[in-house]
Amino acid sequence: MIWFAALGLVLPMVAGQAALWGQCGGTGWTGATTCVTGACCTYSNPYYSQCRACTTCSLPSVYKWESTGPLADPESGYVSLKDFSHVPYNGQHLVYASDVNSTGHYGSLNFGLFSDWNSMASTSQNVMTQAAVAPNVFYFAPKNIWVMPYEWGASPFMYRTSSDPTNANGWSSTQSLFTGSISGSSPIDPALIADDTTMYLFFAGDNGYIYRASMPIGDFPGSFGSSYTTVLSDSTHNLFEAVQVYSVQGQNQYLMIVESIGSTNDRYFRSFTASSLDGSWTPQATSESAPFAGKANSGATWTNDISSGDLIRSSPDQTMPIDPCNLQFLYQGRAIGSGGSYSLWPYRPGLLTLVR
Ligand SMILES: *[C@@H]1O[C@H](CO)[C@@H](O)[C@H](O)[C@H]1NC(C)=O
Repeated sequence: MIWFAALGLVLPMVAGQAALWGQCGGTGWTGATTCVTGACCTYSNPYYSQCRACTTCSLPSVYKWESTGPLADPESGYVSLKDFSHVPYNGQHLVYASDVNSTGHYGSLNFGLFSDWNSMASTSQNVMTQAAVAPNVFYFAPKNIWVMPYEWGASPFMYRTSSDPTNANGWSSTQSLFTGSISGSSPIDPALIADDTTMYLFFAGDNGYIYRASMPIGDFPGSFGSSYTTVLSDSTHNLFEAVQVYSVQGQNQYLMIVESIGSTNDRYFRSFTASSLDGSWTPQATSESAPFAGKANSGATWTNDISSGDLIRSSPDQTMPIDPCNLQFLYQGRAIGSGGSYSLWPYRPGLLTLVR
């Protein structure tokens, strides 16, 4: 990691384009245009550009992680921090989350930008006056706008847009994202990802199914309407919630992770892979004893739950890329033995780093 950081070009901001980075190798960029020998410009868009080792990695078939302890406590009046969404932003970390107050009400917030994970505990927590529960933030490059899908509005999924995602209260008024219904349950946890032509919405239902809706990328941001297809089915516990889908950098592969409930009710993640976003999903690490991430392989000593969060993306854009050479997972955990009602479970952020 330190070696990668040493290779990383810290690119100055362009006057008049606050929060934009230059592009290594791109046109219109007046800074360094090539990476030093042994490094490649692995990702480049208006918000993120980085020289890294040219190596590509594949996903492991057996996952083993190490974990931080809890990275932050909620501010006074709140009992829980949940549902993390992380984007790299000008070389810093931008995190959105749900919060729960002491009477069990869900809201949302962002953390002030921070550079290293040890600073997450001391940075500001900025409550959104208009709550966006289970926020899922990304940069939609075709229209140069940031988008925040979330749940529990006038329709099952809503979204807002912004030109400055660091401002927790700078988001637009809310728009409908998905109006469909599922029998016997409710859509939960929207996860958006695009390829060149299509924007996809994956979601769960706390019911053993994972669903997919789609629209032409040119119609986004907009509503997916009400129709969808079912892409996975299993027991309620095996496919519960918190689905996320990513493109695997350097591979023609997509990774889906789904939160599951284990034999003693611990939360853990199972994974699936696919070669296209409209294709079928193949089980990858799906047992509780050898999961994508869970008590069996997290290395965490403070929590048995590895619950709703976000893999650390290598760009904030709509392709949701992850770098399998540098796999990290920002998750919610809770002190072993903590109990009470579900809404009041004391979730805190933690970070897993893949051990190779
Ligand atoms: C929790 O949030 C709800 C909804 O915003 C609010 O009505 C309630 O007063 C809050 N409770 C506390 C203790 O802050």
